[in-house]
Amino acid sequence: MAVPPVSLMSLAEDYAKNIVPTYGRFDLDIESGSGCRVRDFSGREYLDFGAGIAVCSLGHSHPEAGAAAAEQAMRLVHCSNLYRTKPAADLARRIVEVTGPGKVFFCNSGAEANEGLVKLARRFGSATGRHGIITFNGSFHGRTMACISATGQDKVKKGFGPLLEGFTHVPFGDIGAVRSAVDGSTAAILVEPIQGEGGIHPASAGFLRELRALCDSNNLLLLFDEVQCGLGRTGDWCGWHTLGAADVQPDGVSWAKGIANGFPLGAFWVSDSVRDSRGPLCDLLGPGSHGTTYGGNPVCCAASLKVLEVIARDGLLENAKKMGVRLVEGLRAIGSPLISEIRAVGLMVGVQLCRDFPKTEKTPAIETVVRSMAGGLLVIPAGDAVVRFLPPLNAKPAEIDEAVEKFAAALRSFPTPA
Ligand SMILES: Cc1ncc(COP(=O)(O)O)c(C=O)c1O
Repeated sequence: MAVPPVSLMSLAEDYAKNIVPTYGRFDLDIESGSGCRVRDFSGREYLDFGAGIAVCSLGHSHPEAGAAAAEQAMRLVHCSNLYRTKPAADLARRIVEVTGPGKVFFCNSGAEANEGLVKLARRFGSATGRHGIITFNGSFHGRTMACISATGQDKVKKGFGPLLEGFTHVPFGDIGAVRSAVDGSTAAILVEPIQGEGGIHPASAGFLRELRALCDSNNLLLLFDEVQCGLGRTGDWCGWHTLGAADVQPDGVSWAKGIANGFPLGAFWVSDSVRDSRGPLCDLLGPGSHGTTYGGNPVCCAASLKVLEVIARDGLLENAKKMGVRLVEGLRAIGSPLISEIRAVGLMVGVQLCRDFPKTEKTPAIETVVRSMAGGLLVIPAGDAVVRFLPPLNAKPAEIDEAVEKFAAALRSFPTPA
């Protein structure tokens, strides 16, 4: 039987027929994007304040990031990690500059970066027979087996047991609970300085300092998952600096998302500190211990270098802080009884919807996102009752104000709670 040409099927039909249905997708087919906006196939524009879930830091189709990738693609797309390339060398140097003395491993996603940190912790602990990692309730670290085991949310684990052994979850921000969880098997603590998927919950600077002290006194690794909050989103290269904890130096950090504006790249950094007789931590994963075919891909690294260059050149760290304040002020000024709290660090903004939200078929967060979309604004749900705003770092004041207006209109479409 003849296969119908793709153009005769709607994207929705095509997806339903041929793509594994792991995602609860919104009913929107995106044709193209530019800056803060995406367009559907009818030409309708949407103000995109999700930026591909905190990925497109410079907005869609950024001409310089695109040109850097295109130029590199015409020179060399891939050669494997058996050889050296200049984009990977330049990018690693830049990441070390903004993070601290140490070394970088390149991979392809946030989950893969966290897998690397888990392996680092295991390798580190293996000398003393330890393999345990403490993580936090509400955290999200990715979808691989190690990462769902690390994640502090039951919904990602259902039906996938047995999970990777050795993870202990404790309440976020509760240093007493962390202390009690440390035992003879603990090797590391893995924490998102600002929980993203969990609904934009920043750690306090004091909590991060106490974690560092606890790690020092028990010879544990302190690992930061900055996949969502790192490399500029909060208004600093290091998300934890914006929290006032610039004095805290972790032993490992993971990134992905905003690192390359949508080109698939992940990375983790390991400090050069010496914790035992095996030498610097950053040399613990030696030849043959870890790898990935595409890691450090020259095209993604060239795009990433351009992204980091443009963020610095155009003052986008400062802009993220300023626009974050403007967005929060605008959202507060809506004065909607449907909003119970707004939590924000730079351009990571979470709107907590009220407990007595009007009854809807879907969760309050999804229903609010759907109505925002109907009004031409894309925002992202987190859990049942948080809506996230994660716009590009170069968002302009007029775009922030337009997002606030559109969000206010979406909220007005609900009945007011009694
Ligand atoms: C904090 C954090 N870590 C890890 C991940 C997983 O990243 P990826 O989807 O690129 O594997 C995410 C994705 O949302 C994240 O927010």
